[in-house]
Amino acid sequence: MSSIEVIGGEQLKGELKIQGSKNAALPIIAATILNKGITVLRNCPKIRDVFYMVKILEELGCRATWDGNVLLVDSSTLNSTTVPEESVRKMRSSILYLGALLGRCHEVTIAYPGGCSIGKRPIDYHLNALKKMNVVEEFHGKEDTIIHCHTNCIMGNDIFLEKPSVGATQNIILAAVLSQGVTRIFNAAREPEVTELCTYLIKAGAKICGKGTSFIEVEGVKELNDVDFTLSSDRIVAGTYMAAVAATTGDAVLLGAPVHQLDSTIRVLRKVGCNIDTIGNNIRISCRRRPLPIELLRTQPYPGFPTDMQSQLMTILSIADGKSTIIEEIFESRFQNVYELRKMGAMISVDSTTNKAVISGVKQLKGAVVKAHDLRSGAALVIAGLTAEGVTIVREASSIERGYEDICRDLETLGGNLRYCSENVLVS
Ligand code: UD1
Repeated sequence: MSSIEVIGGEQLKGELKIQGSKNAALPIIAATILNKGITVLRNCPKIRDVFYMVKILEELGCRATWDGNVLLVDSSTLNSTTVPEESVRKMRSSILYLGALLGRCHEVTIAYPGGCSIGKRPIDYHLNALKKMNVVEEFHGKEDTIIHCHTNCIMGNDIFLEKPSVGATQNIILAAVLSQGVTRIFNAAREPEVTELCTYLIKAGAKICGKGTSFIEVEGVKELNDVDFTLSSDRIVAGTYMAAVAATTGDAVLLGAPVHQLDSTIRVLRKVGCNIDTIGNNIRISCRRRPLPIELLRTQPYPGFPTDMQSQLMTILSIADGKSTIIEEIFESRFQNVYELRKMGAMISVDSTTNKAVISGVKQLKGAVVKAHDLRSGAALVIAGLTAEGVTIVREASSIERGYEDICRDLETLGGNLRYCSENVLVS
């Protein structure tokens, strides 16, 4: 288990290229099994979640090779429909193999992914939708945690999602592309990562209408073809680094950022006082003053403000010039950083019944030993360390590697003073 040591006080400056998108890569890696052939995925981020997802491909019998950030998958050799339980436990997104394996093989055995640190994260929408598509579901194992699904033929149907779930929308699309008939998804998620999965599948020969809207229609086709596809860059990584520049009153340019996917993040960062200009795919952000507070920030499904940026904004608001309120609308346990930021001197109170955090900005945070509870809150603590006085140690930082190729390398490029170190390091 590694830690990150951050020495605060440097204003971030310079230029940085943004890595490929994690949340676009994961469903597309699952989708590579549908074409029974070759997929070339370019701009694929080399992060832990992608490595786990690729490992599952190999466990299913597919071949995967890397050349820099290009991932080549040959799914013609697939010979198993069982996703190993250990792999599912490591990574929630492995549930995307549910729709993909059903689509290709009409059968799948996969463990129930269970909850995680940010909330319960059920999969009832996924399972209810598949049932409507003529899939039979059986539960085995201790406490019925192994799901075995099979069908003689996936049949298109109308699916109404109670909430616009990203994973459920993706799983339904994955199951539907090789089905019989038409599947219509009402209240589909509009996240760019759903759109990107559709774009990939359309390139492979799928018939999908309505990508990027809340009504998606998939007409089943007989087969898909080989694909060469370039993933877009990661909107949350770009947003995280913008937040780091804002918190350190820096001035930097992010190169190759998915500008059009960052509207709500840019809007919020402008509200806290940042100047942001976009030129093509590049974003220049500068912040010359202590952040302004935000009266009310709510996380919402896309195109609203993303839950995956909430922790990073909480860090900024903890040093804002006044009182802010955040309401987390998507996940029920996503305020774990409050306890950590308090160790650094932040003044935050939480009402867990309404999922509301009230933040009274302090002038400056102080370095402390803190713990990364999950990927995004870990990144938010690194930002807190950059702005704090003194040394911050972010423990259990390996969860950050799930989504950032090398957060230390990237922030060092912008002049940040931070490094990976052993978990046993002590602050003197
Ligand atoms: C995806 C993203 C994650 C992001 C989240 C919300 C990936 C790999 N992960 O997660 O980074 O934080 O979208 O933008 O892309 N729900 C149910 N039943 C279900 C499914 C979802 O009640 O069967 C609820 C969830 O508890 C949550 C909401 O729907 O309250 C949204 O969850 P969902 O969009 O499914 O999140 P993920 O796809 O898991």
